Amino acid sequence: MTQSKLAEVSGFDQWDAARYLAHYYAEVEADEAATLAFITRACGRIGAPGRALVFGVGPTVHHLLPLAPHVRELHVADYLDSNLEHVRRWLRRDSGAHDWRAFGRHVLRGEGACDVGEAAVAQRERLVRARVTRCLLADAAHERPLFMSAASTREAPRYDVVLSCFCAESATGDKAVWRRYVRNIVRLLAPGGLFITAALRRCTAYRVGSAHFASADIDEHELTDALLAAGVEGASLEIEVHRVGLRERLGYDSIVLAAAATRGAPAETSRVPWFAEPAPGAAPRSRAAPTPVA
Ligand SMILES: C[S@@+](CC[C@H](N)C(=O)[O-])C[C@H]1O[C@@H](n2cnc3c(N)ncnc32)[C@H](O)[C@@H]1O
Repeated sequence: MTQSKLAEVSGFDQWDAARYLAHYYAEVEADEAATLAFITRACGRIGAPGRALVFGVGPTVHHLLPLAPHVRELHVADYLDSNLEHVRRWLRRDSGAHDWRAFGRHVLRGEGACDVGEAAVAQRERLVRARVTRCLLADAAHERPLFMSAASTREAPRYDVVLSCFCAESATGDKAVWRRYVRNIVRLLAPGGLFITAALRRCTAYRVGSAHFASADIDEHELTDALLAAGVEGASLEIEVHRVGLRERLGYDSIVLAAAATRGAPAETSRVPWFAEPAPGAAPRSRAAPTPVA
């Protein structure tokens, strides 16, 4: 990316969720094939089914497909309500919702299923719909990144699993900010919880239609350092680089995939507040009302 191109980088006020879906999710691209296979394998590390969060979900649901059978409850979160609206449309089976069936087939095939027909895919989609209980606004810039009203759960355990794909490094071009985002996202996990992530590697800007969005230009070494600093157990860290050859069309040639447990035993799960709650008398921080799905 040249300096002149960098000057044209868009902010998230210019994000177009429909264009993003059309540009990245018309079919299963090489980066998503690698990511979905990695998530499927990483889900094998989940012990007792607990509660999972998909952070920076965007307008997508495909990463929930391999995760849903391993958890009891799923929450999804994103910075933009316009993204969450696409997720809600799919959850409600609205006629204009994005079609994720090709991703469902891909996931089932990757799990080794013999039957990847329409009925099997529909069954997995039903499972995802049954598991998702909340769509939350979030901002990784905050130490408590999830926005919820004080009326909601006051004290709750942190998540057993947090899955965050192409979020922290795709939300900023600034490495220091990226590190802070990683730390705040990992902080949503209980001790011993599993963090699964995917990131654009060595990418300064990615394309969405004719627009470009900044990316933090990170690699596997920087991700390892950021995860260790955020509190993951070094011995538990699996990290992989995949060449995907999408530089010309999308702005990156490789991705990095990682899974790791946070330090501490799962039994230590602390009941600390995990949602941002406004101070008494203060204006609520959320930009829109939290959205129960059911
Ligand atoms: C490249 S998209 C990835 C979406 C989806 N996870 C995927 O794999 O397609 C980056 C996402 O990060 C979200 N994002 C941007 N800034 C954020 C922030 N400060 N906190 C949380 N999410 C943010 C955007 O709204 C967008 O959905």
